[in-house]
Amino acid sequence: MARKIIIDTDPGQDDAVAILLALASPELEVLGITCVAGNVPLNLTTKNARIVCELAQRPDIKVFAGCDKPIARKLVTAEHVHGKTGLDGITLPDPEMPLQTAHAVDFLIDTLRHEPVGTVTLCPIGPLTNIATAMQRAPDIIGRIQEIVLMGGAYFEVGNITPAAEFNIYVDPEAAKIVFGAGAPLTVMPLDVTHKALTNRTRVDAFRAMPGRVGPAVASWTDFFERYDKEKYGSEGAPLHDPCTIAYLLRPELFSGREINVEIETGSELTLGMTVADWWRVTGRPANARFMGDVDAAGFFALLLERIARL
Ligand code: BDR
Ligand code: CA
Repeated sequence: MARKIIIDTDPGQDDAVAILLALASPELEVLGITCVAGNVPLNLTTKNARIVCELAQRPDIKVFAGCDKPIARKLVTAEHVHGKTGLDGITLPDPEMPLQTAHAVDFLIDTLRHEPVGTVTLCPIGPLTNIATAMQRAPDIIGRIQEIVLMGGAYFEVGNITPAAEFNIYVDPEAAKIVFGAGAPLTVMPLDVTHKALTNRTRVDAFRAMPGRVGPAVASWTDFFERYDKEKYGSEGAPLHDPCTIAYLLRPELFSGREINVEIETGSELTLGMTVADWWRVTGRPANARFMGDVDAAGFFALLLERIARL
């Protein structure tokens, strides 16, 4: 039986590739896509999620609009990375499929209450506002979650949006604190992993050479997206952050990490949104996350190429 997932997202080119990977994989059943404000404002993330579903010829997927701003702060966006639309790199048609009328938070709560206990996995790949709001409003759902597999945070890589913090956690640190403290099984893909999942010429050329529209669109997105990291880090290509979460559900053996304690900084101006990861287990605080540290990048791209070629 396919594993049921909800993707909570703020597309974003790398979010788009994560959604495509999930839609291309029969091992996963995407119950819905819940959108949040993050890389770009909510009106664009809801539009982009539907553009991606239509690109994959899946207008049947339910897409929901969620929170338009963080729990306690002003929204910070990342157009400097993803472009004005959030999906710069290729112009795709405006979506025709409708947005669902329910709020994303209600959909999360209703789905978790309705599906059998322990059968729904959440894949948050943007700020954690929707997930934390659902947990606050309906604490009974926490014990019903099979697993949360999220992209966010960093330890050895420290930060990307500030010297100390990764974007998804930084945008809504209060939400992250709620999710990391909730007690649900939690797997984290931090920058330590995603900065190893880098595109290169050979990989992008392989996407571009695929027949159909999807592979070439992925190549155009990564071409656009990589300019930022190449300039900043001098890296070979673009980090495909968000698809690491979906790849983990499909091939967990590609990743390795540790069960550790991770706390979220919400007080300090200097280190706001930092994931304080007890990698060396020096605090004695109980583990609350499986915090990943490494990925087999060749295996990851082999999987991604094989799956995207199916669309
Ligand atoms: C995360 O921030 C966003 O810009 C990406 O989509 C990813 O989810 C990486 O820090
Ligand atoms: Ca994202």
